[in-house]
Amino acid sequence: MEAYTVTGRIGEGAHGVVVKAKHILTGRPVALKKIPLRRLDQGMPATALREIKALQQIQSEYVVQLLDVFADGTGFVLAFELMPGDLGEMIRDATRPLTEAQAKTYMVMLIKGVAFLHQNNIMHRDLKPANLLINEYGRLKIADFGLCRIFSKKRKRLYSHQVATRWYRAPELLYGARQYTEGVDIWAAGCIFGELINKSPIFPGDSDINQLFVVLQVLGTPSEANWPGLSQLPDYKKITFPEAKPVPLEKVLPDASSVALDLLKRLLVYHAAHRLSAQRALQHEYFWTAPLPAPLSEMPRPHPDKLPPPASREYPTHLDWHAMMRPAHQLLATLQP
Ligand SMILES: Nc1ncnc2c1ncn2[C@@H]1O[C@H](COP(=O)(O)OP(=O)(O)O)[C@@H](O)[C@H]1O
Ligand SMILES: [Mg+2]
Repeated sequence: MEAYTVTGRIGEGAHGVVVKAKHILTGRPVALKKIPLRRLDQGMPATALREIKALQQIQSEYVVQLLDVFADGTGFVLAFELMPGDLGEMIRDATRPLTEAQAKTYMVMLIKGVAFLHQNNIMHRDLKPANLLINEYGRLKIADFGLCRIFSKKRKRLYSHQVATRWYRAPELLYGARQYTEGVDIWAAGCIFGELINKSPIFPGDSDINQLFVVLQVLGTPSEANWPGLSQLPDYKKITFPEAKPVPLEKVLPDASSVALDLLKRLLVYHAAHRLSAQRALQHEYFWTAPLPAPLSEMPRPHPDKLPPPASREYPTHLDWHAMMRPAHQLLATLQP
């Protein structure tokens, strides 16, 4: 902690406080996320730490970079590159509505990030606009790995279904599935895509039951025919709704182009195995038809009052952050299961 001076408060999340700080040696602005150890010994320690280690080892332009991990008092602290905005703000900013080309670029960046995570066997499980942060150049990066899991295609594990913020929660989770796949992230990406087109959430349920109702009202009541295994899901028999017919998505999102709706339909599929993979989604015609995705230079930037103070010089890129945080590595090693 001595390596940083705290310069302000950013927010209080579900897992701890996030503050703005400066790395003293380099002047680099960072976001410090404090995770109280108290919460750690309430059941998540080994896995949480394993996942942090996984994050340290991956690097993508579309994933918020974890720069440092260190112990602090009763817990530990994660230092991330500072991201001045989030996608929710960008969508809600009525002073500069997103163009179709800009929305497309956000989808490219989101799906590239998701593809990268899935290639590395990481399910994020909590994708939503508030967890997609925007840097000062307008680049979107996936953040908040508080709920992420390393998955294995071979070994079937039981997972908690109490994940993901309700509006972005895949239908299998709403039916209580304990075995699910990275398809939950694809569903969330579909909801985010719909929100980019619609400018507001497409499935804004106000309770867990209502969430399922809202989804069924649009996509129609699912059946074994379009969702094999549905009737075996833990909560399937607990919840019944009046039979609903699917509403054509062109009615739900009248402003969307037909190629955009085609992609959306392939993401918001009941049967998770039939959702497009992130890799395949990137090849969809939507990304290759006019208007083409906007270049980064034409992406909106977070508002100036949210930008970090100008650096007196460029941040050195040659510094070996991992070497600088060796004590943290040692800490993590001792906490290994
Ligand atoms: N790297 C970052 N740069 C700037 N702000 C951040 C950063 N990471 C998190 N935040 C802010 O803190 C909030 C909570 O952090 P997050 O990682 O999403 O944790 P939680 O699990 O508590 O939601 C975010 O919604 C965002 O506003
Ligand atoms: Mg969050």
